[in-house]
Amino acid sequence: MTDILEVDPEVRRNPDDEDYASTGYDTSIASLSSSVHEYIFENGRRYHAYYGPDQYLMPQDEKEKDRLDLHHEIILQLFEGQLHQAPLQNPHRILDVGTGTGIWAIGRYPILRTKRALSGNMADKFPEAEVIGTDLSPIQSGWVPANCRFEVDDATLDWTYTDNHFDFIHGRSVGQGFDDWGKLLSEMKCCTVPGGWVEICECGIRANCDDGTMADNNACKIFIDLLRQALIKIKRPPIDDIETLRQRFEATGFEDIRIKTVKEPIGPWTRDERMKKIGAMVLLHCESVYEAYGVATFTKLLGMDRDEAKRICENAIASSRNKNYHLYSIFYNVCGRKPLE
Ligand SMILES: C[S@@+](CC[C@H](N)C(=O)[O-])C[C@H]1O[C@@H](n2cnc3c(N)ncnc32)[C@H](O)[C@@H]1O
Repeated sequence: MTDILEVDPEVRRNPDDEDYASTGYDTSIASLSSSVHEYIFENGRRYHAYYGPDQYLMPQDEKEKDRLDLHHEIILQLFEGQLHQAPLQNPHRILDVGTGTGIWAIGRYPILRTKRALSGNMADKFPEAEVIGTDLSPIQSGWVPANCRFEVDDATLDWTYTDNHFDFIHGRSVGQGFDDWGKLLSEMKCCTVPGGWVEICECGIRANCDDGTMADNNACKIFIDLLRQALIKIKRPPIDDIETLRQRFEATGFEDIRIKTVKEPIGPWTRDERMKKIGAMVLLHCESVYEAYGVATFTKLLGMDRDEAKRICENAIASSRNKNYHLYSIFYNVCGRKPLE
């Protein structure tokens, strides 16, 4: 017979109070792990088994999945609907490393499947291709098109895919997960067919402003500067400019390297209507992005207490909502072709 779960007497005390805080138990800092999925609960968020100062510090819960899907829509708008920059022709095998929810690979499907996904995605764009998405965490939808599958894999380890296998390998917003870009790009190149393409798309961890409205004490800038500091501390240097990324592709031996940068306004402050709409979506994204990137990173790497880390995130949200501060981030996209030799 299953043991009865006893109720903590502290939980029974003060029945008029609905908050666990009155029990002396702070749910948001409890560290629990389930033997089945190895999830870790901390900061009121769910992280996966690889959570740790030298591993991956972003949550993997429903809130994060919503954020990733929203950010996909924003990035798609920023790149004017283009899912990739590489000039692909009839690819047969496509790999998305650090696929997250898999939205780049399969889009967002309605529960009752229609023929089309709700957003642009690779499996629909290339129905003849096999699309594989890999991630540390199995947070992808179970509803996948016939030409797509997801695998749990740590891309920092030696790759087990056959050499010369994929026509296209893609990684987007995966920078926080890797400290050795040389190894990552080499593995990618090795597993790409000669003449195939590798593409990386990353957001620069730097607050930018062109009209002097970002003071040194701007809370958004403070957040981003702290994030940079933390990443540098664990030797995961944030991507600062397109040239660094381009050089990494060049050093790995790619050719026909193509680069593209786009600005992502933080808030609907631009005159341009398309960018204004994107800026409004970014504001929505700000509601969750600071916490996702900041809380665990600041507490685990910079030694802050959780309240301080949360306060920095909240201040950054408030600052992002201020129409008098005209900040933007920059997305860097680089792709290169594996030589035919
Ligand atoms: C910020 S999310 C981006 C997700 C997706 N690429 C997108 O653009 O929507 C980064 C993802 O990379 C995954 N990741 C981080 N380190 C990884 C690693 N070493 N191997 C595989 N996936 C990794 C994380 O689990 C997370 O889902």
